[in-house]
Amino acid sequence: MTHKIAILPGDGIGPEIIREAVKVLTCLRDQHGLDLSWQEAPFGGAGVDAAGDPLPAESLALCQQSAAVLCGAVGGPQYDKLPREQRPERGLLRLRSSMDLFSNLRPAILFEELADASSLKPELVAGLDIMIVRELTGGIYFGQPRGIETLENGERRGFNTLEYRESEIKRIAHSAFRTAMQRNKRLCSVDKANVLEVSELWREIFESVATEYPEVELSHLYVDNASMQLVRAPKQFDVVATTNMFGDILSDTAAMLTGSIGMLPSASLNADGQGMYEPIHGSAPDIAGKGIANPLATILSVAMMLRYSLGENAAADKVEAAVKQTLASGLRTADIAADGDAVSTETMGDAVVAALASL
Ligand code: IPM
Ligand code: MG
Repeated sequence: MTHKIAILPGDGIGPEIIREAVKVLTCLRDQHGLDLSWQEAPFGGAGVDAAGDPLPAESLALCQQSAAVLCGAVGGPQYDKLPREQRPERGLLRLRSSMDLFSNLRPAILFEELADASSLKPELVAGLDIMIVRELTGGIYFGQPRGIETLENGERRGFNTLEYRESEIKRIAHSAFRTAMQRNKRLCSVDKANVLEVSELWREIFESVATEYPEVELSHLYVDNASMQLVRAPKQFDVVATTNMFGDILSDTAAMLTGSIGMLPSASLNADGQGMYEPIHGSAPDIAGKGIANPLATILSVAMMLRYSLGENAAADKVEAAVKQTLASGLRTADIAADGDAVSTETMGDAVVAALASL
């Protein structure tokens, strides 16, 4: 069966890093016999430019008909002043919601070769391997009512709603427990149950789902403490599960622990295993077009896609091995180069492909 992939290059460095990821797909198809087909579509600012919409209807339809979506990055200063509905971020949020991609997996792995890149002491982060499971289609990002209204006295009031239904908590809990089962079987649920009712419910449901996974050791932390623990002793964590907004914040912290945000992939999955895969980093408009961006997070997103949506575990292992080999050979893009000796986006991509072809 052909695996259909939708590719959304997006904005800024998106098209440059996607170009390298497509080379990897081509190599997998031509040299490793994978039955892959793909098609590109505009998204984000590129969607606004092409069709006046950050998520054009045809792009969404293509994504919905594909087994997986590979996305570069969206956003740029030229789009910041557009009406809210046309901003690239809205396109991303609508894509997540339209495809019901409720489970967002964000690994924070410290590559041995890059141990010096972290701002933390090497002994605190050596061997770091955390998986953040972020709820992605609910919570305060989507809760109603929301808005900015003018009160009778003329003062304006902005408001959003933080809400979770039991069913939403249950499905992300199962996703987190299943992830923990594939790893070291430790799960820390992060909430604010000392203040928020919705967190009380969150905690109660995690406790009840836990009875179905007796091998997993479940713990709970308040989000303020969790953020402190993440920088104090990050290796205490295996899988961290949390809400949409807490996960947004904690995943940036976790990414920074590795010192190489240009290296980290992510997966956003729905109940059918369909997924959207993208690097954790943004569109980096300041370096767009210079050919210096790190394509490895996008290439590693391809590996996650092979594993989580396409069931091609062996190919996923190969892509990851090729990235490791390339790093071991000493190649570094500017973001991860300790000294001045950096290679281009293209050189890095070609090196990974060469390594992959030889595996
Ligand atoms: C992320 C980003 C998005 C989010 C923005 C761009 C809407 O920060 O994927 O973490 O807040 O979810
Ligand atoms: Mg974020």
